Amino acid sequence: MQDDAHHDENSAVEIHGPEAFAAMRKAGKLAAELLDYITPFVVPGARTGDIDDLCDAFTREHGAVSAPLGYRGYPRAVCISANHVVCHGIPGDKKLEEGDIVNIDVTPKLEGWHGDSSRMYLVGDRISLKARRLVDVTYECLMLGIEQVKPGNTLGDIGHAIQQHAEAANFSIVRDFCGHGTGQTFHTPPSVLHYGKPGEGLTIKPGMIFTIEPMLNAGKYDVKVLADGWTAVTKDKSLSAQFEHTIGVTDTGVEIFTLSPKGYTKPPYI
Ligand code: MF3
Ligand code: CO
Ligand code: CO
Repeated sequence: MQDDAHHDENSAVEIHGPEAFAAMRKAGKLAAELLDYITPFVVPGARTGDIDDLCDAFTREHGAVSAPLGYRGYPRAVCISANHVVCHGIPGDKKLEEGDIVNIDVTPKLEGWHGDSSRMYLVGDRISLKARRLVDVTYECLMLGIEQVKPGNTLGDIGHAIQQHAEAANFSIVRDFCGHGTGQTFHTPPSVLHYGKPGEGLTIKPGMIFTIEPMLNAGKYDVKVLADGWTAVTKDKSLSAQFEHTIGVTDTGVEIFTLSPKGYTKPPYI
């Protein structure tokens, strides 16, 4: 890792130094604390707009701002995506129902740095076996992807590990959204695809900072965006799940910036 941020000669991917890693550690920790904090509020009857308000208040109380708010016109502080919503669900009057599986995706911007992370939550305790299995496999995909992050591996190694595991379980990988570089800018190169071939794509180098955020569908991978311009849903109305971490590449492997202080990984969170 180098002291000064500079651009990799072979691409537009920024190589960050120790100060950036220290800042991302703080922003990532706040994202994880926020996802921990909101856990007991994700219950049957909860209004998604109220969950959003709680997330925004927590973020401000911790000296950060909610990066999604106003980002390309996005109207709320976080994204809440239930059941067949793939991502970018807009909080509002919708109430969570027993049996829902829900993704909450948060990005507090702390001292100028973005901590981007999302987790799945189970609403109530009557969750179908298929939904539980989708959530479990999606979490496993994220962690298998992260295991591939080390200098010398490629982005294709990450995508391949994720795709293999998802398809072995008969789930599909969403193509229309991907992970991304982050830091002082919310979304930067590289695009981190959640499918691919070993050894293909960009070579991973120390100092890179990016997200991995696989979306798995129980049915086909096709997605459509609703008339609000944001909400992405599965075309076949099948269930969808997603987890996201922000990571940094170290000299020897990976640092996950958004690990839960409470030790929460996948639901149920107890
Ligand atoms: N947090 C999302 C991501 O993982 C981005 C949300 S942008 C918004 O990249 F505008 F929809 F909030
Ligand atoms: Co992201
Ligand atoms: Co996110």
